[in-house]
Amino acid sequence: MQFTAKVTDILKQRTACAIIAVDTKNRLTDSGSALDKANDGALAKLLKRGDLGSTIGSTLMVPNLESGCDRILLVRSSKAPISQPEFRKLANNSARAIKSLKDATSYLTEVAVKDADITWQGAQLALAAGLASYKFTRCHSDAKPNPLAKFTAHAPEKKQLKALQKGVEFGGGQALGSNVARELGNLPGNICTPSYLASEAKALAKKHTKLTTTVLDNKKMESLGMGAFMSVAKGSDEPAAMIAMNYKGGKTGQKPIVLVGKGITFDTGGISLKPGAMMDEMKFDMCGAASVFGVMNALVEMNAPVNVVGVVAAAENMPSGRASKPGDVVTSMSGKTIEILNTDAEGRLVLCDALTWAGKFKPSVVIDVATLTGACVIALGHHATGLYANQDKLAEDLIAAGETAGDRAWRMPLWDEYQPMLNSNFADMQNIGGREAGSVTAACFLARFAEDYNWAHLDIAGSAWKSGAAKGATGRPVPLLLQYILNKK
Ligand code: BES
Ligand code: MN
Ligand code: ZN
Repeated sequence: MQFTAKVTDILKQRTACAIIAVDTKNRLTDSGSALDKANDGALAKLLKRGDLGSTIGSTLMVPNLESGCDRILLVRSSKAPISQPEFRKLANNSARAIKSLKDATSYLTEVAVKDADITWQGAQLALAAGLASYKFTRCHSDAKPNPLAKFTAHAPEKKQLKALQKGVEFGGGQALGSNVARELGNLPGNICTPSYLASEAKALAKKHTKLTTTVLDNKKMESLGMGAFMSVAKGSDEPAAMIAMNYKGGKTGQKPIVLVGKGITFDTGGISLKPGAMMDEMKFDMCGAASVFGVMNALVEMNAPVNVVGVVAAAENMPSGRASKPGDVVTSMSGKTIEILNTDAEGRLVLCDALTWAGKFKPSVVIDVATLTGACVIALGHHATGLYANQDKLAEDLIAAGETAGDRAWRMPLWDEYQPMLNSNFADMQNIGGREAGSVTAACFLARFAEDYNWAHLDIAGSAWKSGAAKGATGRPVPLLLQYILNKK
């Protein structure tokens, strides 16, 4: 999809749809008024009839007025300046209304937004349009992708064009990254295996000179002493993979941000088998890895001036004659031993070795992303990503990035008081902490392997996908991560 910013004349702009805002008193913004005037007040008349709903974000598609555009999409706004969430509503609802058209031009940039500049507006509009254009078609015999191929944001003034352009390109990158993550997340476990992820990482390196990919196979991981990771991988016939995508777009010698994604391509629970209901959704247990792929794809696409390493710990969690059993003790790459009390707490087992391995990239910061605990869904539901960090500034920066991107995270405690819940009689620690505070104890487990650097953990169990009729991966937290990375540079 193509994203552009342009100073346009709504009367001349050739587009399948012009998107214009209408406030609570049926007032149009500048371009809308110009269009109304050129049509002898036809829009005003139409609005008077009351066909456009009064709730903010209501839309009404109007065909064929006298101008260069084939359609007009009227969007109900509110008294200006509107809030950021209100603007997001306009962006999202209008994007949904245009997804089956081939292009659109948005004049929502003419709506004033509290505490937001034109760059932010452009990013939100492009992100919304890009997300709306996504459709999963890969496994259908006869499905066509959405036709939306071009999105243009109107710059009200020439002096704003550059700033708007910057926003639109960034939002387009966020959408591209999110959609990469959604596609990988939505792919079924029989297609999206650890080897599949490894080949995707290699393909990305082939396409872009600034990115190189390393893949460790089972043998190599064994020899590096990744006993925790291998305790999960060994139950499956699918070979596992530890993947690193190293993107060098920044200054040489600048320490990289390392992202670590949980890539369980299917989580049956292992010998601690999960119940059958909704088990299909455990194909989404690689959404952390998918978000890392999304970010890496967006960075190369945007040619971002940053150094970022994307690490993916990919394995399948299966019950078998070779699978780990409750009570087994394994030695992680760090040397710390772990008693596996529940084979369904496998995410932390693959991640702890990935976190140790991440240290070799001499990171400025490490952020892991994982569909780690059902307990996080109980704590926060589906709106907020759970955030843990061993450094306050990092937590604050990630929360701020999430607010800006509309992809929010909420900080959870990582206090020492919780650590004894992981004590074991038979090893340095056990892999579960009991029924209470399940998301916290999972994070506490990971923290033990991230003591040497600034580290944050994003539990996306509730935010990475939707269940029910709209079942599908959301692409979160790609917008948050890209915002954080590019804020920092
Ligand atoms: N992948 C799951 C977490 C999960 C479950 C995410 C449901 C989203 C929805 C993870 O591997 C897991 O099974 N965690 C266990 C941990 C428990 C055994 C301590 C859980 O959350 O039940
Ligand atoms: Mn599990
Ligand atoms: Zn899992």
